[in-house]
Amino acid sequence: MAAADDPPAPPAPPAPQAPPGPEGLPTPDGPPYLLGLRLSGRRVVTVGGGRVADRRVPALVRAGASVVVISPSVTAGLEGLAVAGQIRWVRRGYAPGDVEGAWLVQACTSDSQVNNAIAADCETAMVWCVRADDRAASAAWTPASGEAGDVHIAVLTGDPRRSAGIRDAVVSGLRDGMIGARRGRGARTPGYIAPSRRAAVPDDVPETTSILQDGDSDAGAEIGAAREAGTAGTPATENGPGTAIRGVALVGGGPGDPGLITVRGRQLLAEADVVVTDRLAPRSLLDELPPDVEIIDASKIPYGRAMAQDHINAALVAHALAGRFVVRLKGGDPFVFGRGAEEVLACLHAGVPVTIVPGVTSAIAVPGAAFVPVTHRGVAQEFHVVSAHVAPGGQRSTIDWAVLARSSGTIVLLMAVERLDAIAEALIRHGRVSSTPVAVIQDGTLPTQHTLTATLGTVADEATAAGIRPPAVVVVGEVVNIAAQIAELLPGRQRWIGRA
Ligand SMILES: C[S@@+](CC[C@H](N)C(=O)[O-])C[C@H]1O[C@@H](n2cnc3c(N)ncnc32)[C@H](O)[C@@H]1O
Repeated sequence: MAAADDPPAPPAPPAPQAPPGPEGLPTPDGPPYLLGLRLSGRRVVTVGGGRVADRRVPALVRAGASVVVISPSVTAGLEGLAVAGQIRWVRRGYAPGDVEGAWLVQACTSDSQVNNAIAADCETAMVWCVRADDRAASAAWTPASGEAGDVHIAVLTGDPRRSAGIRDAVVSGLRDGMIGARRGRGARTPGYIAPSRRAAVPDDVPETTSILQDGDSDAGAEIGAAREAGTAGTPATENGPGTAIRGVALVGGGPGDPGLITVRGRQLLAEADVVVTDRLAPRSLLDELPPDVEIIDASKIPYGRAMAQDHINAALVAHALAGRFVVRLKGGDPFVFGRGAEEVLACLHAGVPVTIVPGVTSAIAVPGAAFVPVTHRGVAQEFHVVSAHVAPGGQRSTIDWAVLARSSGTIVLLMAVERLDAIAEALIRHGRVSSTPVAVIQDGTLPTQHTLTATLGTVADEATAAGIRPPAVVVVGEVVNIAAQIAELLPGRQRWIGRA
């Protein structure tokens, strides 16, 4: 059977079923007229339950169509959809009348005579029919389609491989920002107030131009000006009246390797007008952004220059209320020791919509990049992720180190480098044996990644001697020995203590 989607154009005469023109004459075949069908709740009949139907039906289900599959037998995939109640499966062959009441019909049987009959019935009933086996006789063609966020792409060339290739290029270009997908950025309309978004900026949001340090932005001035005008908290959008503000997307950038951000995160980054980034976010991605994208460095370097969380929150709010699409790019996952929820709350209090894009957390990805599994059958059934920014026994510590020490699970410690001595001492004092293996993975997933292995009894001294510095993830538990087993089997000089 010929390919179902956008099949190759044969050197064929015009479609035999082309409807007559106004004078009753056959109309010449024009270019296809592309539409986006909104199928939600609408009946779509697919005749045939083989490979072609198996490929097409899930997209129809996703579009919300009420799908009926007519076929004596179906693939396992279609059967699964039927069992789950997502489609209706009528277990028989095609019968006249089956196309009645359908908005769209897919003729996907392997018998061209049956497909002919279906197409003819559709023509009579004035229902669009897509034939899988005969492009020339098909009233409608299925394009190669794809999505990048809220952008939908459909390509028809007459050659399915070519269509798919073009589709892939466009989708990936949109996702990685090579094709600009930012929304219209028309002339600024200072002072425009969208009445529908009259949400107040909380009084405690700093309101001076120092809202952003280092003169990064005029966001503070904008909040100040809005306050003076008695309109604080309402958006002065750059895109003009009636444009809904897009707000802030909190994007988890993953542990550092730019390839470990999610597809969704990458795509939203490409659409940003303003990016507020952390030190541990995958900063190399920022080089790819257009020069007019404002990048604000909110680095929170330990014990160094810091941008107070209030100021970060205020910057997010001010830029969003000014109509800019703001991406808050964070390392790892925004909600794992990332203060992400504080930023969400600040935005929502100010009436700014928020999108969350989860990220690959360093707590799991960094050990993984060093071949350390946080769980392993028969070795560790649980793992505990602990923020060690406060030492055991410290006034602000809420960790029950005795419970952690007694558990048989893996302990994954973040922000622990400067407190390794106190942590190891607490774990040993509460019962973990001093010979427990420990891995310290610095700069995980980055070209500079390296791993130190030691035991609980020796790790503090060895880390100091090796000059280990943040960022690093510390893994305590027998799973570290699994990594050593993996290392034995790695080819050549690819060692588990380094990157692949
Ligand atoms: C404030 S926490 C943020 C964690 C982040 N939200 C996450 O989900 O990965 C920062 C700590 O994460 C760990 N970390 C983040 N990226 C790392 C990397 N590439 N290599 C090693 N540790 C990393 C370090 O322990 C660092 O001190």
